[in-house]
Amino acid sequence: MPINLDHLGELERTHSCGELRASDAGREVVLMGWIAVRRDFGPLTFIDLRDRDGLTQVVFDAEDASAAHARAKEVRGEYVVAVRGEVAARDEGQRNPKLPTGDVEVRAREILVLNEARTPPFQLDAPTEKLAAEEVRLKYRYLDLRRPFFQKTLRLRARVVGEIHRYMDGEGFTEIETPILIKSTPEGARDYVVPSRLYPGRFYALPQSPQIFKQICMIAGLDKYYQIARCFRDEDLRADRQPEFTQLDVEFSFATREQVYRLIEGLLARVFRLVGAELQAPFQRLTYAEALRRYGSDKPDLRFGMELQDLAPALEGTTFAPFAAAIEKGGEVKGLVVRGGAHLSRKALDELQEFAKRYGAGALAWVKLGDELSSSLLKALGEEAVTRVASRAGAEKGDALLIIAGRASVVAASLGALRNEVARREKLIPPNVFAPLWVTEFPMFEFNETEGRFYAMHHPFTSPLDEDLPLFERAVEGGETGLLGGLRAKAYDAVVNGVEVAGGSIRIHRRDVQRLVFKALGLTEEKARERFGFFLDALEYGTPPHGGIAAGIERMLMALTGIENIRDLMAFPKTASAADLMIDAPGAIDPHQLDELHIRIVED
Ligand code: AMO
Repeated sequence: MPINLDHLGELERTHSCGELRASDAGREVVLMGWIAVRRDFGPLTFIDLRDRDGLTQVVFDAEDASAAHARAKEVRGEYVVAVRGEVAARDEGQRNPKLPTGDVEVRAREILVLNEARTPPFQLDAPTEKLAAEEVRLKYRYLDLRRPFFQKTLRLRARVVGEIHRYMDGEGFTEIETPILIKSTPEGARDYVVPSRLYPGRFYALPQSPQIFKQICMIAGLDKYYQIARCFRDEDLRADRQPEFTQLDVEFSFATREQVYRLIEGLLARVFRLVGAELQAPFQRLTYAEALRRYGSDKPDLRFGMELQDLAPALEGTTFAPFAAAIEKGGEVKGLVVRGGAHLSRKALDELQEFAKRYGAGALAWVKLGDELSSSLLKALGEEAVTRVASRAGAEKGDALLIIAGRASVVAASLGALRNEVARREKLIPPNVFAPLWVTEFPMFEFNETEGRFYAMHHPFTSPLDEDLPLFERAVEGGETGLLGGLRAKAYDAVVNGVEVAGGSIRIHRRDVQRLVFKALGLTEEKARERFGFFLDALEYGTPPHGGIAAGIERMLMALTGIENIRDLMAFPKTASAADLMIDAPGAIDPHQLDELHIRIVED
């Protein structure tokens, strides 16, 4: 039954629900918020009142304030109320050390019921493991966001962005907005497109990043650009990707890689200090090749060791087919040592094998140095060879060794992923540790097997290493295409705790080098002109050497908080299938709108 609502009138809040302490005892206060819980004990009714700051216990006593007490009995979960009363220290046994306001309560004299609420479709204060399914919470995002978890993370996000503005401003950078309705950008994902009403059959594309515009800002002499920029990418989503996300985007003129590193090290140090974390600058550096060789990943988590070990030298002359074939075909046999892993059960090892297979591994071989030697390879290799392999890997008594053989790229991908998985399962990751690094010298090009051609690994405006230029010319002009795979770029990523937080490069500012890149990518002069003609023109009007980087705001927060689900770090995220469950997007549009846009839908 609906209840009579009260008017707020001119009543003002005096405090938030997270503010009152024992020293406030005796004060007359007005709090406003949502009913988190109501508990009735005869003549006493308690409510926990919640707002973005926290919870305060409010007591209604039938003897002291009978009208308020009666009114309080009418409110239910999520009703919106204002309460006026006096702060009182709680009795010794009644204090709640888990709440910052747990030493006090408000003895209410008056309650205004400002709005009622339907029963929420899920319990807002359920413990994390009992939270309702994410789909339900995404549909009722406005309720989920009332939870303290989101109130905290979204405010941290705002503080991070504020700190970024202050830092970039202090470093002399100018914030410049670039357009959202543009033409395709070269980041390599699919574009989101917007049909044009005025130009039938033409489309705008939403920016995958402001890449071209920020380079144009350099040509325009703006010198030091930054922007908190929204980016749109229609790509396969993962736990750390969203179709719409935010970057701190940076570009500056006459940039060297060292300057970019210093700028971002300073920035990350400032941002991480917000949560009391000290990042040690300069960051450690690994070339891409070394990161892959030692960790099987271009974003290694350096909070723990567990480096990959090359086992081929201990397997010379082996006749065991999977290993022999891998080595013979120029592949690898590598392993990782799990310290104290001899206790791993057959079931756990089977699970790890299934996990590795998802990354293309054919099988996972293992050795356990328990009280007795046991291994999936004992029959095939014999005890002596297995012992040799284990000692080559540096495994000791009590350890386990996990081994994968195959193509180098598969061994890296599967062992690299396994390294993280095992560390998580075996709790080998120390808490409150931050391990930042630069991964440098990314390859210029990546070969796509299915399409049989090279792609730009970063984007086509990334500069090669100066010392690789002669090789580049030979590859393109001399037709030695095979050399392309070995070319290194002035491209870098900042990685913290296994999260790729930022990526960027020094750009090409010379028309001749840019031409080589397009040629390597199989883009004819006409095709290149069609796509980036305006940019190629601009490059010819006095382009300064320049470079930059972009840092994902959500990724920074992931590294900062350890939260692994990117959706938990933005207010209104999309699902893994790029839907917004709250507003039900994407949605159909009116036939009339379609007509205006000159669009006809063809049903499959
Ligand atoms: P890149 O594509 O490496 O480079 O992106 C830079 C950073 O943006 C973040 N990021 C994402 N975050 C969430 N969801 C996504 N789908 C997503 N994709 C990327 C990551 C990544 O490191 N224009 C270049 C930058 C440059 O060269 O200056 C670019 O966008 O943190």
